[in-house]
Amino acid sequence: MAFADYQNEIYLNGLGGVLPSFPMEFAELADRARAALPPSVWSYVAGGAGDEHTQRANVAAFQRWGLIPRMFVGASQRDLTVELFGMTLPSPVFLAPIGVIGLCAQDGHGDLATARAAARTGVPMVASTLSVDPLEDVAGELGDTPGFFQLYTPTDRSIAESLVHRAERAGYRGIVVTLDTWITGWRPRDLATANFPQLRGHCLTNYTTDPAFRAALGRSPEEDPQSAILHWTQVFGNPLTWDDLDWLRSLTDLPLIVKHLPPRGRAPGP
Ligand SMILES: Cc1cc2nc3c(=O)[nH]c(=O)nc-3n(C[C@H](O)[C@H](O)[C@H](O)COP(=O)(O)O)c2cc1C
Repeated sequence: MAFADYQNEIYLNGLGGVLPSFPMEFAELADRARAALPPSVWSYVAGGAGDEHTQRANVAAFQRWGLIPRMFVGASQRDLTVELFGMTLPSPVFLAPIGVIGLCAQDGHGDLATARAAARTGVPMVASTLSVDPLEDVAGELGDTPGFFQLYTPTDRSIAESLVHRAERAGYRGIVVTLDTWITGWRPRDLATANFPQLRGHCLTNYTTDPAFRAALGRSPEEDPQSAILHWTQVFGNPLTWDDLDWLRSLTDLPLIVKHLPPRGRAPGP
């Protein structure tokens, strides 16, 4: 893993007059995203809870971190592997689960694009429960790069169990249980446009393809999408307690990782 090699590629292309098509600065990346995304997706991706003060505070806090390289160590070979959850992972950074990433790609398949990026770079991906493509298809694009499945634990235990077993079968290397999204956050940007993507049926494929979810419906999601969405609202958002941990643990032998956000209140999850 030598991430710095990507800059060599850019400089070498520059010798042939080819400039990078991607922005190199975060601010420009955000500007380009705002220009390219439909306003409803942009508001969901860029917005935070309340007056977004904690969102800004998190960025400021992160800026206080610096890296000091060590000298005289002859670092011609850099080893970025880390030992975590009983396995050796190729990179010390992960792709966080982003529940609407599927909608952010031009072709509407951003989960697959993210998995392909993971495959190419060796950066492990945490695949969100809320995806455009089913978790099996996302896993299929990961190549040799490890993937983890992020679980929003449904209140219906049979659906939770089914999702975990599907993730196991699809080859995910761990289950990441998100703890902080049992209730919808107060998100002014989304509220102002009455915009909540899942209620419009987006990113629910892991549910609508799930046998346990489908079994709870009178008519299939293809025949009656509205009822499927309504049922989703009833099973999403489980206020877990420590007492649920033994049950979650009993579902799988995979590493079980619990996840919560810094206190900026991004709920609902995505
Ligand atoms: C648009 C968006 C969607 C997200 N979707 C999910 C999700 O589906 N599941 C989850 O566990 N976390 C989700 N998160 C939280 C991220 O995984 C991450 O924990 C959080 O953004 C904190 O990292 P950051 O400060 O680098 O943004 C989402 C965050 C954003 C911004």
